[in-house]
Amino acid sequence: MNPQAFYRAPYPVYAEARRTRGLTFLPELGAYLVSRREDVREVLSKPEQFSSAGALRPDYLPSRAALTELIKGFGGVQAVLTADGDAHRRLRRPLTRGLSPARVAAALPFVTERAEALIGSFAGDGQVEWMDGYARPLPAAVIGHLVGLDPADTPGAIRGAQRAEELLFTELTEAEQVDVAKEIVDVQCLLDGYARARRKDPRDDLLTELVRDLAPGSGDLTLDQRKEIVSNVQNLLLAGHLTTTALLGTVVLNLLRDRRQWELLCEQPRLVPAAIEEAARFEAPIQGFRRTVTTGVTLSGTELHEDDVVFVSFASAGRDADATARPDEFDITRPAFRHLSFGYGPHGCPGSQLAKEQVRISLEILLRELPGLRLAHTDITMAPTLIHHSPEALFLTW
Ligand code: HEM
Repeated sequence: MNPQAFYRAPYPVYAEARRTRGLTFLPELGAYLVSRREDVREVLSKPEQFSSAGALRPDYLPSRAALTELIKGFGGVQAVLTADGDAHRRLRRPLTRGLSPARVAAALPFVTERAEALIGSFAGDGQVEWMDGYARPLPAAVIGHLVGLDPADTPGAIRGAQRAEELLFTELTEAEQVDVAKEIVDVQCLLDGYARARRKDPRDDLLTELVRDLAPGSGDLTLDQRKEIVSNVQNLLLAGHLTTTALLGTVVLNLLRDRRQWELLCEQPRLVPAAIEEAARFEAPIQGFRRTVTTGVTLSGTELHEDDVVFVSFASAGRDADATARPDEFDITRPAFRHLSFGYGPHGCPGSQLAKEQVRISLEILLRELPGLRLAHTDITMAPTLIHHSPEALFLTW
């Protein structure tokens, strides 16, 4: 199968894999697909047998010319998502603190103000393209705010982080790769300036947490420390942005696709948290990540060997009929159950509360301001990626 077609519509492949005994090897991913909920949980809870080192294996390797540009920057150092064991615990600590419930609560007035301003900017128009008009800008502004960036620097920093993803996951010409690499390096230099400024003048933000925790002491940051901080901030800008964008897209899409769900939510706004969980379960923004087998192990009856790669599908786990009835229906009254769309185990998402609060605030404003919301078109194209499963565009009217 063409990988792009699979990326846009992966659910039939997962369903077939769940029906098939053992693990299915998917050549499109170069990995065994872990599709059943119990197997997904098992892999995620045994990091010593299933390493995260190759979690984000690139689809395309940068050309030599692009690498020549990249080495001028501050990247290429391990980030939390691909670390194991003690190295992982060390990189995760400042994030847990920086995204604590108290920090998230303190950010809510900012989220509400941005959300109201964005919706207010198009509410009088009777129509909007939701992804560009709202779902992309809101989480970008919010993660920039939490990290501690000047609002004027946030769009460029976010774009730089996205360019890093583009370089590794899309097919580009050599000239395009070089341009992208230069842009990535410019943003790394900007973030490095922030890191050094926070060293001298700590503030109450995530960047300060990262500097304080990853580079204890008070002297000038070493080059290695600067690289580590910049790599992890860049990673955070990506992790905190497009995932939430995807959920803002799919929650609105699925509520409006069967408009009775939207009408029910208008009648019973207390169902908003359930609608968010159901949207995350039904179309997991991160469809899955890879793990590398560290030692011979049998999973679901399939023998795996050292260095075999598995693709752990959070998305497929959410559609497992052994865990919830009628899994292919979107139903905001579904009895609560623990889906795995925010991960599980030591790498489980430290930003899930922040993401859910953004979606909650967004839905509450929409219910209040635009109850007549409906889809302008029903032929929706999903983006060809497993990292943030979302509509490419979503035209709404009211
Ligand atoms: C709807 C939004 C989101 C979804 C669906 C989501 C999903 C996930 C998942 C499935 C993982 C586990 C990865 C693994 O096991 O390899 C993860 C990890 C992570 N997420 Fe999220 N996430 C979201 C929002 C956020 C936000 C808003 C932030 C930051 C502000 C964030 C930061 C991270 C980080 C740093 C990790 C890596 C943690 C580690 O490796 O220990 N995420 N996320």
